[in-house]
This record gives sequence, C-alpha cells and structure tokens, in this order.
Amino acid sequence: MHSHLSLSRRSVLRAASAAFAAAAVSHPVFAAAAAPVRERSIAEVIRMSPVEMAEESAVVRAAMTSLEASAKRLSDAKLAGVILDIMKNPMPRLLEGVDEARCLEALRREGLIDAKRSSLFPPLADRSAAPQPYASAPGSGYKSHHAYPGGLATHCALNVASAEKLADSYREVFGLEIDRDAAVGGELLHDLHKPWVFQWLKDHTCRVEPQLAGTGEHHVLSIAESMKRGVAPAVCVAQACAHDHPGTAESEARVVKYLRAAAIIAGVDPVRGGYLAADGKTLPQPRRMEGFVVHLADHDFVVSGPACQWTAAALYELFREQYGLTSEADLNAARNYAFANLTAMRLYGVLSTRGKRALGEEVARIVKKA
Ligand SMILES: [Fe+2]
Ligand SMILES: [Fe+2]
Repeated sequence: MHSHLSLSRRSVLRAASAAFAAAAVSHPVFAAAAAPVRERSIAEVIRMSPVEMAEESAVVRAAMTSLEASAKRLSDAKLAGVILDIMKNPMPRLLEGVDEARCLEALRREGLIDAKRSSLFPPLADRSAAPQPYASAPGSGYKSHHAYPGGLATHCALNVASAEKLADSYREVFGLEIDRDAAVGGELLHDLHKPWVFQWLKDHTCRVEPQLAGTGEHHVLSIAESMKRGVAPAVCVAQACAHDHPGTAESEARVVKYLRAAAIIAGVDPVRGGYLAADGKTLPQPRRMEGFVVHLADHDFVVSGPACQWTAAALYELFREQYGLTSEADLNAARNYAFANLTAMRLYGVLSTRGKRALGEEVARIVKKA
C-alpha cells in the first residue's frame, strides 16, 4: 500500500514537471518547429530557392511575428514604425544621396577601412529594392550562427526575447530603470542590414562579409541606416554596443569607431548628433545601461555559432548517407531547408542530447527520402 502510494505520487510529480516544462517552452518559434509540418521529397527540397524556403517556413513566420509584436510593445511609436518598415522592406535608405567615393576617402583618412578597398557597399542590382526580404536572410555568415534562410529572424527572436527579459531582471533585482526603446529597439535594429550583406549565392551559401571599422560590415551599415532614418541617438548608441561594450577603454574605443564610421556613411556629425561625448572619444557620459543589455542579449552567437556548424556537419553526413546527395550545392540546400523549418538550435538540442539517429528521425518528419 505504502509503495503504491509513493509510486502514484512519483507519477503525479513526473506529470507535473512535464507540464511545467511544456508551459515554460511556449515561444511561437518552438511551437512551429515542434508541430507536424509539411513533408517534402528531397528532390523538391533541392529545387527550392532560399527565399521560397523562408516563405514556406512556419518557424520563420513565427519569428517574424514575434519580432513585430516586440516592436509594437515599444513606447516610441515612431521607432516602432521604423523597425516595422525595415522588416517589411530592408532597402538600404542610406544609399539615398550618398557619395560612395567621398565616404570611402573619409573612412580611409580615419583608418576605418582597408586602404586597398575600391568600393564600400555590398552589391545591389536595383537601388529601389532590397536584394532579398528580411525574412529570408541568414543569421550570419555561412560558417557562423543561424546560417540558413530565416536565420536572421530566429537569431533576433531569441536576442530580443533575451533583451526584454534581461531588462526585466535588472529592474526586478536591482531596480534599474532601463529605457526599453533603446535596449529592445536597439536589439531589434542590431543586424538590420544582414539581408543586404548576406545575399544568397547560386551554391546555396551566402556572400562572404568584408570588414568595416574592425568588425563585420553589417554592424556599421546597420548603425548608419538607423542614423539615416532618424532613430534617436540613445537607440543608435545602444545598437552600436551589440558587438562590443563600453565597459573597458579598449572595448569602448571599438564602439566609438563603429559610430564614427556609421556617421560618415549617414552624413552626420557624431558629436553634434549626440552619438558621442563632446570630446568625440567616448560614448555620451555617463554611460548608460541599455548598450550593455543589447551587447549581452546578442551573445547568443557564443553557442549558436558552433551549434549550427556541428549540426550542419551531422546533416551533411545524413543527407549524403541516407538521402544519396553528392553535390555541395544540393547538400547546402538540404541543410538550409532542415534548418529553416526546424531551426539549427532545435536540431542541435536533439543531436547533443539524443544523438545522430534521433537527428535523422527529426529531419525525416519534414524530408522524405524519395
Ligand atoms: Fe551583428
Ligand atoms: Fe546579432
């Protein structure tokens, strides 16, 4: 009798903890990746373009919807409008009236660009349109994090959720009043030019990113776009802290470089515009908390970079051995499709806890062998 009671008590506890786990994981991206989705044959998959993969993915749609909802929760309606406008059409407005040669010369003079460079901007066939939708851009370079169609949206969905929760935690634990427009708005804007920078190539990989002001060019171009669109300086400064923070003199000097380079491209004065302190050497004083929130919340890349690459290696093996793919381009397409519908992080979770066989079963939910 006694043992029967403790057994049922154990099962009640187990059920309760399972229910708790399910309730805790409730983000729409998780729900979309977990729900049964359309099955496609491998032959269909390798014929799809990156844009088609993103358009069809419920995961990418869920990520976009969650980003839009976060933008709408901001208190500055104008800022929310700019963010939603960029997500709808990430056309580089910073090109309007820009003199590329003059920018290049100014960047060279300040040592902010490789002296051998003869052009500054990523290619753009049609200056009135973005090279791809926001929703189909990868989260980063092909050898880095969330590198698949829609990876920018899933990267930002995690980062923006992190920024919101981090701002809550600092308020709840220490009473810090964090400007959510700067912290969350900065996070929403932080990688906005990845659709321009990481254009998809014929082999289903994406463009290799040049450096600008000592970091990936998307960072500086994204800050310049925010400046050009009249985003408040406090938001631009927080956004500029995504890759480095103002916590040490060396790290702050890098943020100052990003802001200086961005100001050159946007055609604004970084001091008079309120992006730098009066001496032009540091961020505006006293240094605010919002940049640190953006910086810490962008640190998903620490895990998602290697996780994406480890999982991609396992997927290439799977698609070679079990789906009979041989060409590099087909393998890339199949990898992109699996990631765009299930996310690289979910598949990494499966691989790291349940192994390659379980990874194969997960992929088989959405890709048929024949
Ligand atoms: Fe970035
Ligand atoms: Fe990022």
